[in-house]
Amino acid sequence: MTADGAVANGSSIGIFDSGIGGLAVMREVRFLIPGRPLLYLADQRWAPYGSRSLAGVQERSIQVAGQLIEAGAGCVVVACNTASAAALHELRRRYVDVPFVGMEPAVKPAASHSRSRVVGVLATAATFQGELFASVVDRHADDVTVLTSVGEGLAGIVEDGGATGSVTKELLRRYLGPMLDAGMDTLVLGCTHYTFLTGAIRGVVGDDVRIIDPAPAVARQVVRVSGSVESDHVAPVMYATTADPDRFDDQITELMGSPPERPSEQW
Ligand code: DGL
Repeated sequence: MTADGAVANGSSIGIFDSGIGGLAVMREVRFLIPGRPLLYLADQRWAPYGSRSLAGVQERSIQVAGQLIEAGAGCVVVACNTASAAALHELRRRYVDVPFVGMEPAVKPAASHSRSRVVGVLATAATFQGELFASVVDRHADDVTVLTSVGEGLAGIVEDGGATGSVTKELLRRYLGPMLDAGMDTLVLGCTHYTFLTGAIRGVVGDDVRIIDPAPAVARQVVRVSGSVESDHVAPVMYATTADPDRFDDQITELMGSPPERPSEQW
């Protein structure tokens, strides 16, 4: 970090998630600041995070954030709601010189948009257990009803490329149906993997429910924290995974529409 708090011009932004969900955030960051080198780490060997204990996710998050910092990241984006719930506070405490940007369920914009005053949040079990979720509801939802649903299995489905399959639709109907029946008119995507299910979710909730994906707002926060970059060249993205780099390359190709500029590394 420089004296004014910005991230030095050439230094990279590290981004991590349990897997490919954080690519949704990375895509937005890249769009806003293409000149900033990015380093994306998918902790796929330990995925899914969402069904692990908060302590276990915190331990992994400390380790992967440390790896990113060691590799030169001047700012770290915790592009995972579960890891943010489990570890954001502790990461900031441990790595005091590094700015962190995390995810929190977008209950605030949901509450301000909802007309029915019933909003739904779809997230992992661990995200709902964390203090972060309770505090977001406390701060921003005193005059709305916040319904929650655990998206058990959905992150794994996205990892396996099954976003449009019939099992996905069936699960989404099961998870979202009760919230729709209760009058939900605004749905918060509380897990970064779910961005890649937006089409399937739209198919279940219909056109009248607003779907709030926090990825663009988080990317804007990353720019505020890291500063913009004066450069007309597009900086490279370096990808790494703790599991199989070939599989990760295929997933990147599928989700980002083109293969990575350099093959992923295994960390
Ligand atoms: N993408 C992660 C999140 O935002 C978690 C997925 C998982 O590993 O369970 O919560």
